[in-house]
Amino acid sequence: MLAPMTRRPCDPEDGDASTLVPACALTRRGFVGASAGVLLVGCGPSSMPTRKVEAIKDGVLEFELSKHPELVVAGGMVALHPEGTRKPLIVMRLEGDRFRVLSSKCSHLGCTVRWDNEEQTLRCPCHGSRFGDDGKVQRGPAKQPLREYPNQLAGTTLQIAVRDD
Ligand code: FES
Repeated sequence: MLAPMTRRPCDPEDGDASTLVPACALTRRGFVGASAGVLLVGCGPSSMPTRKVEAIKDGVLEFELSKHPELVVAGGMVALHPEGTRKPLIVMRLEGDRFRVLSSKCSHLGCTVRWDNEEQTLRCPCHGSRFGDDGKVQRGPAKQPLREYPNQLAGTTLQIAVRDD
């Protein structure tokens, strides 16, 4: 006999992301959307390290790529946790100079998704949702994709517009 299904609580640090980041100071037009159908090379990264980074300023997180060797070649992925925020951003290098930046906040009830190397998915530990490296839902209960953030490469600096919507 199956046990009744219960919901696990979400991460204790979970909160309303709208209170965590300032509104974007840059227009979306200035950033390259990563939804142009560019795929990661190969079968995906083997791991996703998490690193603290400086705070978001005026709605933009920017950093030198050289500080994150995972982002030097296509297929790399890293979770960057800006100072003062509750959730890391998942940053992936696509082909060429294109990047994809996803929220790690599960679109179901807000737990933090993590890369599952065996499944090659972003997996939510709370209720089992799975997301592809494009942020799309592969398995529920989540119904919406992970939030994606526009970004642009300025020289060797990646700029991410952390909008609030
Ligand atoms: Fe429920 Fe992620 S919070 S599946």
